[in-house]
Amino acid sequence: MTDTLTITDNRTGKSYEVPVTDGTVRAMDLRQIKVNESDFGLMSYDPAYKNTASCRSAITYIDGDKGILRYRGYPIEQLAEQSTYLEVAYLLLKGELPKRAELDAWQYEITTHTYLHEFFKTSMEGYRYDAHPMGRLVAFLGTLSTFYTDSKEIHDPIIREQNIVRIIAKMPTIAAWAYRHSLGRPYVYPDNDLSYSGNFLSMLFKIAEPSYQPNPVLERALDVLFILHADHEQNCSTAAARSVGSSQADPYVSLAAASAALYGPLHGGANEQVLRMLDRIGSKAAVPDFIKRVKNREAKLMGFGHRVYKNYDPRARVIKKLADQVFEVTGPNPRLDIALELERIALEDEFFVQRKLYPNVDFYSGLIYEAMGFPVEMFPVLFAIPRASGWLAQWSEMLDDKEQKIARPRQIYTGSGHRDYVPSYERG
Ligand code: COA
Repeated sequence: MTDTLTITDNRTGKSYEVPVTDGTVRAMDLRQIKVNESDFGLMSYDPAYKNTASCRSAITYIDGDKGILRYRGYPIEQLAEQSTYLEVAYLLLKGELPKRAELDAWQYEITTHTYLHEFFKTSMEGYRYDAHPMGRLVAFLGTLSTFYTDSKEIHDPIIREQNIVRIIAKMPTIAAWAYRHSLGRPYVYPDNDLSYSGNFLSMLFKIAEPSYQPNPVLERALDVLFILHADHEQNCSTAAARSVGSSQADPYVSLAAASAALYGPLHGGANEQVLRMLDRIGSKAAVPDFIKRVKNREAKLMGFGHRVYKNYDPRARVIKKLADQVFEVTGPNPRLDIALELERIALEDEFFVQRKLYPNVDFYSGLIYEAMGFPVEMFPVLFAIPRASGWLAQWSEMLDDKEQKIARPRQIYTGSGHRDYVPSYERG
């Protein structure tokens, strides 16, 4: 068996042999296929990148049919059970789990870069109390770029690492301060004695106590949610980070672009939509009627379906278990009954079975976030904080990949042919 593909062009009768590597053909190999010398050559057409690999990556592996997710080879279930978010961030960025001393040094680095310049406090005051925290996150990442101008030295390994540390460290501070501002509460400075997720909870919820002690169940639950959201290979926001970064823009603005992509309701905004949907449904008894509306295309079952998973999202399985632990601390969330009923009916229904629509990561995460006291506007931010490590790992991998160049898709032009300009007074 040879690893090639033979293509016969029926327009010319000519045959071409192109190599098949890793189950792919190179789109550039198609360009030799021409009807005549002046022909540009064959291109592939793939709106929304449904069947196009845009890079080679060693970071995250997904088998959507089997419901498998691994970071650097480690199954997500094992990481969620045994690791911490900061250890996972190290793994994503550096490719290996850290040794004890490396982990300590990494945690120290992150912990000592959590402070924001006081300018950010003044800057926060410029927003209205109800400004969406994702809008602020996008803006503040852009603003950080103006502070750390050395970050433009993207090929200097020391500077690159420094700015990676800064971003992972400062994301929770930006998010927490946006939340505090929306409530009119004073900002809480980072507490270096707490864990990454414990410090985040402190900056969000501390009132007058001299030192905030996070509930260990909620602190761990948040850390697990951060692990689950840390990377997901070439999704919309990661593609945005890579695409913007490919122009050699600095990591702050590349991540501002990624955050903007994550903001959309079909991506990181979905968990917010799940909660709103559950509220609209209102009760378990109303579920069959809602399912009918989904099948009639009058509504969408938010938190269901995925471009890649055609099986149960492995992250949703972990989150479902986590929900039980959280609700033991916070008390039951009545929306959980509606969600469970939706899942039960949908998984039996031919419409969903046929289309392989299963719960995704967003189906249950919103319920946990809400029980922990987060307003819905904060949900996509809670996704963006841990995804920063994935974006940065992917961005860095892209910069080191000799095959990558500035991202620039082709198009099929469908507009007018040549026409001559007519002055406005002659246009009739
Ligand atoms: N509710 C109802 N029907 C859905 C559905 C949902 N959540 N998701 C997909 N479908 C249907 C589509 O209508 C389509 O049906 P058709 O073939 O009869 O037209 C079929 O399933 C395939 O869906 P499609 O939109 O082509 O899949 P996609 O890969 O382009 O979209 C999502 C993936 C995630 C954008 C999509 O499933 C979705 O919008 N889900 C809800 C939002 C969400 O939870 N996003 C978070 C993702 S982590």
